[in-house]
Amino acid sequence: MCGIVGAVAQRDVAEILVEGLRRLEYRGYDSAGVAVVDSESNLTRVRRLGKVQELADAVNEQHVAGGTGIAHTRWATHGEPSEANAHPHMSGDIAVVHNGIIENHEELRELLTGRGYVFTSQTDTEVIAHLVEWELRTSASLIEALQKTAKQLEGAYGTVAVDRKDPSRIVVARSGSPIVIGLGVGENFLASDQLALLNVTRRFIYLEEGDIAEITRREVSIFDAEGNAVEREEHESNAEHDAGDKGKYRHFMQKEIFEQPTALISTMEGRLSADSVITNAIGVKAEEILSKVEHVQIIACGTSYNSGMAARYWFESIAGVSCDVEIASEFRYRKFVTRPNSLLVTLSQSGETADTLAALRLAKEKGYMAAMTICNVAGSSLVRESDFAFMTRAGTEIGVASTKAFTTQLAAMLMMVVSIGRLQGRVDQAQETEIVKALHELPTAIEKALAFDKEIEALAPDFADKHHTLFLGRGEYYPIAMEASLKLKEISYIHAEAYAAGELKHGPLALIDADMPVVVVAPNNDLLEKLKSNVEEVRARGGLLYVFADEEAGFEGDENMKIIKMPHVSEIIAPIFYTVPMQLLSYHIALIKGTDVDQPRNLAKAVTVE
Ligand code: M6R
Repeated sequence: MCGIVGAVAQRDVAEILVEGLRRLEYRGYDSAGVAVVDSESNLTRVRRLGKVQELADAVNEQHVAGGTGIAHTRWATHGEPSEANAHPHMSGDIAVVHNGIIENHEELRELLTGRGYVFTSQTDTEVIAHLVEWELRTSASLIEALQKTAKQLEGAYGTVAVDRKDPSRIVVARSGSPIVIGLGVGENFLASDQLALLNVTRRFIYLEEGDIAEITRREVSIFDAEGNAVEREEHESNAEHDAGDKGKYRHFMQKEIFEQPTALISTMEGRLSADSVITNAIGVKAEEILSKVEHVQIIACGTSYNSGMAARYWFESIAGVSCDVEIASEFRYRKFVTRPNSLLVTLSQSGETADTLAALRLAKEKGYMAAMTICNVAGSSLVRESDFAFMTRAGTEIGVASTKAFTTQLAAMLMMVVSIGRLQGRVDQAQETEIVKALHELPTAIEKALAFDKEIEALAPDFADKHHTLFLGRGEYYPIAMEASLKLKEISYIHAEAYAAGELKHGPLALIDADMPVVVVAPNNDLLEKLKSNVEEVRARGGLLYVFADEEAGFEGDENMKIIKMPHVSEIIAPIFYTVPMQLLSYHIALIKGTDVDQPRNLAKAVTVE
């Protein structure tokens, strides 16, 4: 949620800051702002409601210049999206940007009002600006003022401050919201995500929980929560340089849907031989842990939760270990029983989802044998705080609607399932060979699904004028239907629901009429006949059906039932395969609706607040 960029350089940094915000815009896009200080201590603050482009235009018009600056793109939590609530917030000479939530902001606001500070926004951030200003009065340095401030803040945050009177440095604190420092030559940077800085550096230091740092052109000094000077390891990023570029595609989401064959190839590279999964490639401790695991507890949110729900079928039917999947925000607030030899698996594209991270931290105290994460962002909090990480290597995902993260998570979990099954004697070589062969075929199968783009585009107008859509599936296709419904509501704003098709007659059948399209995911598996009965239940009540069916499934269409005949693919990879037409359908419906596909209203890519 929200994006932060900061820079201290000899050159003008306004352009670097704005470009950084553009790259972070997927994190929040209600409003944006910069504060830039030149060597004469002139501070210019520019804030705009709306997209980063609005800010970029204003920064250009005003010829904002200076070598030190901080910038922010906002996803509103406290206070509506408005220019007054946009960051940076100021108190005297101090400018501050902030990600996260200050939970005790009301009490601090009262305290600061008593000291004579006047609040000009409804945000929780403004208390940080005033606190730093107050503490600086009795501190030897800006960093000391921030250290004193941090001790008074409750909640999860990443915050950055600059003092107009001393443009040679910026200070930053990390407590629950990621901050990365980018190292340059004679200039240094910081951001909430390294993506923001990839055009200026590839060398990064990740701040750890509680760290507070001071950045000047030549030096980065880091202190832990106790105020001790600490060294943090430097990392060289190999993230894609052009991740911020849509290339030939109209939207990042479209690009990311079409990138799935290559994302899957990367995810599987070095992890599969011709006939086996190379378990050691899953993680250093993988073989030892997976051979003992008796239960898998998956924790995730949103799309990642849906992929866990789909993989649960594999964990139980192939690996023979019990598997529970729970939404992180529920798990973290209930009393749960940890099963013996239970492996905690967090699933996350970003690795920064606040609820998932909190669930991991809680679970680490609750006797799980180990905590594993399946994640797409190297160096993210989940990766650093888990015992071992299985990286999905999907490449940067920018569209708020998650696509390639979902399919690569499924591929990763299928490899993990095969490893557990083999290590525990439940998957023999013949079965492993069959699954690995299917995995090798997966990128080609996804290409075949993508080839349905035009056919699916032609269906989209039937949905675009409707207010609701129902998605049906059985078995592991029920979570695929859940994911399809999440995609549709998220980017087209059409209300959508997913049902396990067998559950239809227990209530949702009452909704069926000619105004509610019903999309059915119908592979040719052993539940096909059951599914056909469910389709008949809808058909008999005048429902409008769109059946994505295996070409051999034997469906016959009519005016109320369109059949989209999909090529037959191996049953094991079919849930991944059928995800793709669902993504394309949502995408094309959203195009007709004219929504902001990559940055749908009210959402943000990485949900780093509760
Ligand atoms: O980064 P994560 O996978 O942890 O994110 C979880 C959800 O916030 C995310 O999947 C969200 O539901 C997407 N917008 C769905 O497309």
